[in-house]
Amino acid sequence: MTYLANPARYDQTSTRPMEYRRCGNSGLRLPAISLGLWHNFGGVDVFENYRAILQAAFDNGITHFDLANNYGPPPGSAEENFGVIMKKDFTPYRDELVISTKAGYLMWPGPYGDWGSKKYLVASLDQSLKRMGLEYVDIFYHHRPDPNTPLEETMAALDLIVRQGKALYVGISNYKAEEAEKAIAILKQLGTPCLIHQPKYSMFERWVEGGLLDVLGREGVGCIPFSPLAQGLLTDKYLKGIPNDSRASKAHGFLKSSQVTPEVVARLEQLNAIAIDRGQSLAQMALAWLLKDERVTSVLIGASRVSQLLDSLDCLKNKNFTEEELNTIEKVLSK
Ligand SMILES: NC(=O)c1ccc[n+]([C@@H]2O[C@H](COP(=O)([O-])OP(=O)(O)OC[C@H]3O[C@@H](n4cnc5c(N)ncnc54)[C@H](OP(=O)(O)O)[C@@H]3O)[C@@H](O)[C@H]2O)c1
Repeated sequence: MTYLANPARYDQTSTRPMEYRRCGNSGLRLPAISLGLWHNFGGVDVFENYRAILQAAFDNGITHFDLANNYGPPPGSAEENFGVIMKKDFTPYRDELVISTKAGYLMWPGPYGDWGSKKYLVASLDQSLKRMGLEYVDIFYHHRPDPNTPLEETMAALDLIVRQGKALYVGISNYKAEEAEKAIAILKQLGTPCLIHQPKYSMFERWVEGGLLDVLGREGVGCIPFSPLAQGLLTDKYLKGIPNDSRASKAHGFLKSSQVTPEVVARLEQLNAIAIDRGQSLAQMALAWLLKDERVTSVLIGASRVSQLLDSLDCLKNKNFTEEELNTIEKVLSK
């Protein structure tokens, strides 16, 4: 069936109006909610399900899809599958989409398929473009810092890739505050400003508050937290055990059942009660809690089905927190 995008996708009077937030000091605005293809879009997943998720996302104003060379499993398959859907459904909408990919983790054997050399980054992006059938990506990231490659070489590779026209913007991911500051300075000097940083950030993972957010705010670099729902923990799904179809129950899932401890569930119960008082689902509250900080450009969610995506999108209906709510949340999180 030919896909025709919802004509009301940018309509601010629709039931789920999307908000677009400026990415740092750049000219680019990103949707407050972006969709990542780490899980649920690989060779082990169901084509019609992930196709429906991508369509529902775009139909609701999500213009940003995030990938990486190694997403799957098997590695590379999320990009391949996305390429098929790109061709089938999204070709007419390419200029309405911000598509990102990354390199930095193990992708192929030998000394050139991992970390942060120019050799690896340039070759990996060429492979990603082929898999996705794209001429360029909008954002190319270095996926994690490499302690053994000079930062100057890695940043020069990002600069080169932009000058070659293979990416419009560049970003870094998983860099600590100090490393990020250095990378941002080198990129600025090269004339290819760092657009965005992608750190792990959620109610359960708050290291970015210890300096990174300040660096990004000061330098005018955007921030797109990944795993904002702590891989699904920050939802109501684990309150009554581990459902069979959840990430924690899947052999290839990165969330392990051992992470769903009685202590975590007790904390989730308290957070869930606060969310209910606010008239939100726990997932919605967890996302709204991140978006209350203006330095956060977009939250990068995952979804295993359309209903989750729609639930998460509704976080935009209430992003305001009272002082009292914030204090109560803080008490639960610091226990
Ligand atoms: N840069 C990096 O190093 C890095 C690392 C990891 C991820 N990322 C990026 O961040 C993206 C998101 O990561 P993530 O998938 O871990 O994000 P997440 O939003 O924290 O977790 C998504 C998972 O939570 C569950 N879920 C989502 N919405 C729900 C809802 N409303 N109600 C109940 N359950 C819900 C689903 O899991 P079930 O399968 O249990 O249904 C879904 O797959 C990735 O796709 C990737 O693009 C980047």
